[in-house]
Amino acid sequence: MNSSLATVSYIGATILFILSLGGLSNQESSRRGNLFGMIGMTIAVLATVFGPQVNSGGYAWIVGAMVIGGSIGLYLARSVQMTQMPELVAFMHSMVGLAAVLVGFATFVDPTATHGFEGAAKTIHELEIYIGIFIGAVTLSGSVIAFGKLSGRIGGNPVLLPGRHWLNLAGLLAVIYFGGVFMGAETVQAGTMPIIIMTVIALLFGIHMVMAIGGADMPVVVSMLNSYSGWAAAATGFMLNNDLLIVVGALVGSSGAILSYIMCNAMNRSFISVIAGGFGTTSAAPAGGGAVQPAGEVVPVNATEAAELLREAKSVIVVPGYGMAVAQAQHTVFEITKVLRDKGVNVRFGIHPVAGRMPGHMNVLLAEAKVPYDVVFEMDELNDDFPTTDVAIVIGANDIVNPAAQDDPTSPIAGMPVLEVWKAKTSIVMKRSMASGYAGVDNPLFYKENNRMLFGDAKKMLDEVLTVLRA
Ligand code: TAP
Repeated sequence: MNSSLATVSYIGATILFILSLGGLSNQESSRRGNLFGMIGMTIAVLATVFGPQVNSGGYAWIVGAMVIGGSIGLYLARSVQMTQMPELVAFMHSMVGLAAVLVGFATFVDPTATHGFEGAAKTIHELEIYIGIFIGAVTLSGSVIAFGKLSGRIGGNPVLLPGRHWLNLAGLLAVIYFGGVFMGAETVQAGTMPIIIMTVIALLFGIHMVMAIGGADMPVVVSMLNSYSGWAAAATGFMLNNDLLIVVGALVGSSGAILSYIMCNAMNRSFISVIAGGFGTTSAAPAGGGAVQPAGEVVPVNATEAAELLREAKSVIVVPGYGMAVAQAQHTVFEITKVLRDKGVNVRFGIHPVAGRMPGHMNVLLAEAKVPYDVVFEMDELNDDFPTTDVAIVIGANDIVNPAAQDDPTSPIAGMPVLEVWKAKTSIVMKRSMASGYAGVDNPLFYKENNRMLFGDAKKMLDEVLTVLRA
């Protein structure tokens, strides 16, 4: 393939990626968006492999690597549980970071890579390598820690080292200093030590940054690492002189940055404060879903009583959370919705921006269960409607319906907007125990007079509710 055909293919792929992102912004067009992305990626891979930068002697290596990588990817995609998706995404981000680090080192030691670069061009090329490895290493170690936190292998409590901001500042100054040493090095040997030291600092920086962030602020970290992985890919593109990788990396980087901004708004946090680990850290509350001391009386109901409440309601708002994903209860939720709608009940879904463990988690589950999009609303669209709602049914959600976010300024989730289910005539909370949610804080909703607790696995309980409703 000659270089102009490769360029045309790259432009085509870029357009498809932009269309893909546009499609993914809306549930109805998201399938089409995915399809555009897949076609774009196929074109991109083919144009790169058969493009002018690869000589035919490398095909066997490329095919071998693609077969191994593709098989692992296929296996993971087929075997991963829906509840493990956030961890998988974090893992993939770490792979992008690792790729940037490896490409950076390979470009650095490859004598032909700098061939022809003189003066300013050489300086820019070295800067690309240095910054590329830095971003890649931060993304790599930060994503590994995020993977650990999301999968419960690492506790959700923020780990706050004494003088942590000073540590970060010292690390940054050291990175700049070694950058100067690296740029001034005349030989590969002389440049090796500063670049290795910088990589170690960057890895520690990534670990420190994510370890310092408390439970409820994790969504911002996830979207931020998403953004970093994009910038790491763009940096790889600069190092490899690949325009498509630069453009795609910038697209992922900037859309991730916008997502981080949306997440910050959803949590009512300032971006800098989250990164600095300033929130979710003032309370002694245990983070990560531990049991907390009960703070009042709750009114438990059984499935029949819950079904009766739903049967008598004219309007119902369903609030799904992480527990619905764990229980895989979305299909039963939809069956119940159908029965109630057939009876003329106005059933709507209220989706909190950080419900579950990844952006759009609930939307994906509801779409999988074929819940019509026109009954699924965002938190802001529906929060004012709770006072005129008969029953708000909370399915495996906790932090996102916690009134302490509004009432208790000392709460780690203080200020986070929540779905005001307690304003409905009756609220029913469906969960297995009195355990706290991801942020590890007690939930005063459970003790409200108009609240009922339906204890048990969400799928099992909803099956029972459905049976009663159909009877
Ligand atoms: P959580 O606050 O984590 O609450 C989920 C609740 O589901 C738990 O209290 C648990 O109580 C219940 N549960 C678990 N398995 C269940 C099952 N099989 N059946 C019934 N209930 C079950 O979830 P949420 O309300 O969706 O809030 C999300 C939280 O995750 C927020 O703090 C958010 O900041 C954080 N987070 C979000 C993201 C993104 S991007 N969305 C990423 C990382 C972290 P029991 O154990 O008593 O059943």
